Amino acid sequence: MSNRILVLNGPNLNLLGEREPDIYGGETLARIEAACVKRAGELGLGVEFRQSNSEGELVDWVQQAKDGFSALMVNAGAYTHTSVALLDALLASDLPIIEVHLSNIHQRDEFRHHSYVSKAARGMICGFGGHGYVLALEAAAKIFEAE
Ligand code: DQA
Repeated sequence: MSNRILVLNGPNLNLLGEREPDIYGGETLARIEAACVKRAGELGLGVEFRQSNSEGELVDWVQQAKDGFSALMVNAGAYTHTSVALLDALLASDLPIIEVHLSNIHQRDEFRHHSYVSKAARGMICGFGGHGYVLALEAAAKIFEAE
């Protein structure tokens, strides 16, 4: 069975395409998902996208991910900078975690420089817009190859 990756998207990422396009670009989450599904097919991986504005729902999905998924990609949106609950769920998960952000969070407001998710992640890709998700898939493929 091919490795499946669960891609979790946090608050306000449902608004991509219309939300601050100068920062996040003009691509919708559906378009990013389509690009990932295409690349995942080429890499022989499966991919499932989910988005929630609710911290608790994201925590639930992380807890359930070990049934059926081999890795997590996480763009936790603003919860990146605030959520110890999400960090704890990620730390409890045995899956490799790749953190993704569309924008380069280190060039932005100081409060965005710190990421709780990073404490649990193998690595982080930020600043490449929606293409960062495809780069993260490629990183996941390398992790699977090495394991
Ligand atoms: C974001 C960066 C966060 O600081 C912000 O709150 C988001 C999106 C990004 O993808 O660049 O919602 O995670």
